[in-house]
Amino acid sequence: MKKLIILAGITALITIISCNQTKDTNTVNLETGWKFKTGDDPGFASPAFNDTSWGTIDPKTIWEDQGNKGYNGFAWYRCRVLIRSSMKNQNTASDSLQIFLGKIDDCDQVFLNGELIGENGRNIPSGSTRDDAFTKETGRWNLDRRYCLAPADPRIHWDQENTVAVRCFDQGGAGGMFGKTFAIRMTGLQDHLKFDMDSAAYIFSGDTMLSKGYSIINTTGTDQIKGEVLTEVIQCDNGVRLFSERSFIDLAPHVKINKLVAFKKAKSAPAILHVTFTEAVTNNKVDAESEVPYCLTPETSLEPRINGASVFGVRPWSPFQFKVAATGQPPLKYSATDLPEGLTINPENGIITGSLKKKAEYIVKLTVENQLGYAERDLKIVVGDVISLTPPMGWNSWNCWGLSVSDKKVRQSADAFVSTGLINHGWSYVNIDDGWEDTHDKNGNILTNYKFPNMPGLCGYVHSLGLKIGIYSSPGPKTCGGYEGSYGFEAKDAMNYASWGIDYLKYDWCSYGNIAPDPNPEQLKKPYKEMRHALRKTNRDIHYSLCQYGMGDVWTWGAEVDGNSWRTTGDIEDTWESLSAIGFSQGRCSEFSAPGRWNDPDMLVIGWVGWGPALHYTRLTPNEQYTHISLWCLLASPLLIGCDLEQLDPFTLNLITNDEVIAIDQDPLGKQAIPLRKSDDYEVWARELEDGNKALGLFNKTGKTMYVHVDMSDMKLTGKYEMRDLWKQTDLGKVRGHFEMKVMPHGARLIRLSRQN
Ligand code: GLA
Repeated sequence: MKKLIILAGITALITIISCNQTKDTNTVNLETGWKFKTGDDPGFASPAFNDTSWGTIDPKTIWEDQGNKGYNGFAWYRCRVLIRSSMKNQNTASDSLQIFLGKIDDCDQVFLNGELIGENGRNIPSGSTRDDAFTKETGRWNLDRRYCLAPADPRIHWDQENTVAVRCFDQGGAGGMFGKTFAIRMTGLQDHLKFDMDSAAYIFSGDTMLSKGYSIINTTGTDQIKGEVLTEVIQCDNGVRLFSERSFIDLAPHVKINKLVAFKKAKSAPAILHVTFTEAVTNNKVDAESEVPYCLTPETSLEPRINGASVFGVRPWSPFQFKVAATGQPPLKYSATDLPEGLTINPENGIITGSLKKKAEYIVKLTVENQLGYAERDLKIVVGDVISLTPPMGWNSWNCWGLSVSDKKVRQSADAFVSTGLINHGWSYVNIDDGWEDTHDKNGNILTNYKFPNMPGLCGYVHSLGLKIGIYSSPGPKTCGGYEGSYGFEAKDAMNYASWGIDYLKYDWCSYGNIAPDPNPEQLKKPYKEMRHALRKTNRDIHYSLCQYGMGDVWTWGAEVDGNSWRTTGDIEDTWESLSAIGFSQGRCSEFSAPGRWNDPDMLVIGWVGWGPALHYTRLTPNEQYTHISLWCLLASPLLIGCDLEQLDPFTLNLITNDEVIAIDQDPLGKQAIPLRKSDDYEVWARELEDGNKALGLFNKTGKTMYVHVDMSDMKLTGKYEMRDLWKQTDLGKVRGHFEMKVMPHGARLIRLSRQN
């Protein structure tokens, strides 16, 4: 079935096609229709209050992003909805009315028809009076707001207009309603029968066989739930059923059953695992689904190929280390002609070392050979003031191990760069985040804690593999994890890092907020300038990564304090909300990105992550992960893998070893993509490349597959262009004027447009 929607006024044409998500009915939608006002007045709760002069607001996005930048304190949201009594009759367990209000940053009181019904995520009984103690409570901002009322509760006005009024209090930082699920509905089967589709990851055996476990749980304390489970795997492009099974279940209260699905599928074919439960007595249905991973990157060729950065910056006299990244059937033999004096290449592993004394530029011809042939490529070496001429690529311990990182885990990760072949695609930094520090000794030297018994030894080991190593600290007295920071010890810390052999420093604001609680622009720069001076006094190139979550529009002055990259946002999470909010907001800093000066939208949330000892498989769908990597490459972002490298599954490895995709991130021109088209449903981003061609990202922000139309005049492109699908590494033919492409739900297409003469 095809349904065409023509968006008036813009040239995007969106076609909704199959493989879409199904959604429940019987719900009052609260995603729209909200009025908003900053300030506070008890009268704002009243249904009679006239809010026509108030502004409108989208409850899915914090108020800062909707014209209220920097606002902290009270604000109100109001919305009027009809609640039909017919909702009560259509459910099995109609025991309460639920009001879902996403998340609220930081605190909230919710009124229905003028009466308080909930506070900071707790239900409030009828007749309760309000006070302001709720504004003092912390840690509620990330809690899903769901308020429940018995159907007989007089605060509900069945079959009439109801006024929902939300009094918010923001203690600082982001404020107001955000997140997902803004709705009113009765409790029903979907609240009592839960599917766990996420705890078990897909298991690959061979190229075509996949299996996955999932479970169904009866969460009611009292009722037996009986019915039929239909489990199906459907291939998206042709609707073919790859797996289909019907079974009957009879679940006692609190019982969970585990199911296993095993099926064959072409490696690159997208598919959906769909589970539907139909309750025996009522015929009511609940369902859940999960995207099956599909691998787009073709097999690596056995013939030699040189990958990774084609330009490398180094400062005069600094130790030089560059590993030629190359794939092909081993053994590979590496050589370089026109290497400047002072450098040598190891023919066995392609590691170039030495040092260069004068500012200069050199073009070196790299050659990699094996039994099947050879590959050549130029490497430009720039001896000057700026390092990191392409965005750093590597791994960081935080998104997987959090504070439980140790020497052993870092060594194992470094080994995995080699055993998985990541090192052959340009991945090179092994970065230790927070959790390695002890105290400063009486001489002011920073000590490592018991988990890192020999930091110089660890650095030496990582270097011996052809990799680089990074570390983490804070300009404040304490790091975000409560470990010792660099405050007052900047010079000594920098000297110690350099003497150990550190190549990368992530410098995280954290407790510096106590030293400069309300920083002006100069105070924001001060600690970063200080560490910059300390780093420059060492005779070592240390990538300087500023981490202060984008405060004071750091992208406008990060280069001034000699940052090589700067975090533009708060911490990323492995959810679509977090990924899309961060990724698609990066257009505001595009113009500030340049070789050696990179915007950093935070690390990759793929594979097994967890921010601590217990890991889980990323909650991003495969399509969302294609969006993640495509967008981050277009953004010329540092690419830091955040998962356990020892548990790299075939999908994740395939996702991060596509050399044509990585080449976009590493393009030597260093120009970050800009958004050409933005709407609620889709985005189109374009990046200029060094060879004069363009990389283009087409992103689908909806839960349904769509066709996204690209008008090449948006990029001022006239004439004929060759189009290449970078994920599949295949040519798509010539194009002129405009074209459209199918894009999966929350997915992406990444293409290259090359001018044809
Ligand atoms: C902050 C940073 C994270 C991580 C932690 C470590 O939250 O943004 O990336 O470094 O601190 O404590």
